[in-house]
Amino acid sequence: MNFLKLLNLSGLFAAHRGARSIAPENTLLALKKSVGHCDFVEVDVQLSSDEVAIIMHDDTLERTTNISQIDSLKSRKPYRVCDFTFEELKTLDYGSWFYKEKKQKEAVLTLHDTLAFIKKNEMFINVEIKDMYGLFDDEKVVSIVIDEIKKTDMLQSVLISSFRHEYLKILKEKLPDIPTAVLVEDSHPDNLIEYLKELRADAYSFNNELADEKIVKKLREAGFYVGVYTVNDFERVKELFGMGVNYIFSDILYK
Ligand code: G3P
Ligand code: MG
Repeated sequence: MNFLKLLNLSGLFAAHRGARSIAPENTLLALKKSVGHCDFVEVDVQLSSDEVAIIMHDDTLERTTNISQIDSLKSRKPYRVCDFTFEELKTLDYGSWFYKEKKQKEAVLTLHDTLAFIKKNEMFINVEIKDMYGLFDDEKVVSIVIDEIKKTDMLQSVLISSFRHEYLKILKEKLPDIPTAVLVEDSHPDNLIEYLKELRADAYSFNNELADEKIVKKLREAGFYVGVYTVNDFERVKELFGMGVNYIFSDILYK
């Protein structure tokens, strides 16, 4: 089964940033906790200064690492991920911030290791490419992601999404068979269906606040798969699936 066939099953749960309600987001531990409890995993990918694809949501390292406790790195504020080499990123702890009392260190997670883990566990994954416009060349970003997917032979198990739609356009030019999802947050693009067709997108993922019956129906009738993020209220989950939404991103593992 490939990712598009998976989407045909509907009523799908995506473990948002791994199992983010019970483990530090976007870490190997979060991936491990999600095994058997979701239909696919979602992670965020961005690049270190030396162009290693790593898994991290925020543009900066402050919230989800111990960097602000390291005196020798204080001069590196605001701790942008793109300003640190992979070797430097390896020195940080990505786990302990999550826990109130205990320390549980987690290492930086690469896209490579993420894909290898998903493959080993026969899972599916939505790789969200963070918007790195102005930091790295678009073609470069896309090529790095494609290389990792090819190296791990994961073409059949990924859905690639981004708020930067240019990445998705380049992806389809380079790899026409790779499933893509356009991401939006605040509003729908003008002429939405035409826009998605031009991008040759397979799916459209949008903010819960933008979701209603009319838009879901329109998208489904036009042949696009529909995803909504981030929904942690089960009543709302049922409502969205009732509208015909195919997949929901949730911090909670409902399965
Ligand atoms: O891909 C769905 C969701 O992850 C998008 O929002 O900010 O959590 O990456 P964010
Ligand atoms: Mg995301």
